[in-house]
Amino acid sequence: MNAQTTEIATLVDGQAVSDALASLADRFPGRVVFSTSFGIEDQVITHIIFRNNLPIRVFTLETGRLFRETYYVWNRTLEIYNKKIDTYFPNTQAVEQLISQKGPASFYESVENRKECCRIRKIEPLGRALDGAACWITGIRASQSDNRQGMTQVEWDAGHDLIKVHPIYHWSEEEVWDYVKKHQIPYNPLHDKGFPSIGCAPCTRAVGEGEDFRAGRWWWEDRSKKECGLHAT
Ligand code: ADX
Ligand code: SF4
Repeated sequence: MNAQTTEIATLVDGQAVSDALASLADRFPGRVVFSTSFGIEDQVITHIIFRNNLPIRVFTLETGRLFRETYYVWNRTLEIYNKKIDTYFPNTQAVEQLISQKGPASFYESVENRKECCRIRKIEPLGRALDGAACWITGIRASQSDNRQGMTQVEWDAGHDLIKVHPIYHWSEEEVWDYVKKHQIPYNPLHDKGFPSIGCAPCTRAVGEGEDFRAGRWWWEDRSKKECGLHAT
């Protein structure tokens, strides 16, 4: 942990999420960004940012392979809050080349192919989305996976050279749902159909009773490989 990470961890420690986000916006004027995939955690943070008019730029990575239901909640979110969500698409030529060479479903064939697709559709656009940012907010929670349990609420992202903050890192799934219900926040209808974690359509499926939170993501791969690289530290 470097000195700035320690300073920011102290700044947000023990604060309500809205106060923590406001403090970050004050600390890094115009340089705080929030990434949303329109999952349930992201909807909580979006609500807090938009309802409090916090000067935090909200963006999404439109991979081109999202669920119909994700577009639905995206659109509802724009209607309800009437705020801007910046959208980043993958580089056209890179996608054209990938599909021309390997077809539209290469990600099922090997981990390398899957990571190649994630790199083109998420990682490269993420780099553009984070350009100039000093602080990146995400909806990650500790209890989402063993891997995430090992993270901390405030981290230094050496790859992007910025502070990364997960404001609801310590919330349980139940707390997230209670908040969503209490504030009538719009959410992806797939959450009611057995999808706790929602990414691209071909790479996400419903989980069975008792299966873990991320079991439906890249389900054909070994557990240890199931991060797309957005949150590689
Ligand atoms: S992923 O790495 O497996 O895809 P996950 O779906 O758990 O991530 O989401 C964790 C956080 O990553 C979200 O709270 C959000 O901040 C960010 N994120 C994931 N997917 C996207 C996306 N398509 N666009 C913007 N942010 C995203
Ligand atoms: Fe490609 Fe699947 Fe990664 Fe989406 S999650 S970018 S479709 S490999």
